[in-house]
Amino acid sequence: MNLIRKFDFNEWSPKIDSVTSQQAIAALEDGFVICLPHLPFVLGEDEKRFLSERWSDHKSKNISLRPQGGLKGAFGSADELKALRAMIQRYSDQATQLVSTLFPDYVPNLVKANTSLRPFEVEGRVSSYRKDDKRLHTDAFPSNPTQGTRLLRVFNNVNPNGRPRVWRVGEPFDAMVKKYLPQAKNMFPGQASLMHKLGITKRKRTPYDQLMLQLHDLVKADMDYQRNAPQQSVNFMPGTTWIVYSDQVLHAAMSGQYMMEQTFHLPPEALYRPETSPIKVLEAIKGIALGLVD
Ligand SMILES: [Fe+2]
Repeated sequence: MNLIRKFDFNEWSPKIDSVTSQQAIAALEDGFVICLPHLPFVLGEDEKRFLSERWSDHKSKNISLRPQGGLKGAFGSADELKALRAMIQRYSDQATQLVSTLFPDYVPNLVKANTSLRPFEVEGRVSSYRKDDKRLHTDAFPSNPTQGTRLLRVFNNVNPNGRPRVWRVGEPFDAMVKKYLPQAKNMFPGQASLMHKLGITKRKRTPYDQLMLQLHDLVKADMDYQRNAPQQSVNFMPGTTWIVYSDQVLHAAMSGQYMMEQTFHLPPEALYRPETSPIKVLEAIKGIALGLVD
């Protein structure tokens, strides 16, 4: 099993022939990690200073640029923050160019979400098991239901000291689902409306979101699975870009410091093959619709 697919693109708008294009689309939607070892995010001389923890407000884990333009989690003077924002914005623009070039049919439905600079070392971070991203998981967030929308992420290791971003990548989504779906608990009647009304969730949690959260928690809680499930360790070296559907690919961030990340949202219907989406996979197994119900 090797869930990493390497391509040798070295530009953010690469020229791509139709065979390679089909390979990239199939890899992404089938739940592989697209790895581009020769696509660095190049910092200007003046921007290298931003690879430091000192620009964090130390309240947030990441420095984030919202799609509406707000910069969150950063600390510095107005001039410094302006330059920092410009750097993160450039990453956002380049990641958008890349996704638009590789997956042109996504463009009309692609929604840009947050862009982040992740300045802290991953290793040694202590947290509850649910928040521990050193354990294999697929992304699902208690307060932020996606309602089936895909989470497409473009990462780049910008570490200036030659250090890799080390991930573990787990088995294919459907293999994990077969093991844990029987244990997944449903919401109680009225729970989704209540949580939304109380502001616990940003929008209504759907039966799909509930299952994805349960899978996230069950997988993270199972130390035997964490140690012994099929998996591979991957070193993403500085200068590497990688693209992944983080709601589909089992991943764990083991170590590394200084990474750029762009999140996109995409409705499952906008995929080349919608049936590969987690919501469609789960609906096929359960035999019922898992989307929004009133
Ligand atoms: Fe994650």
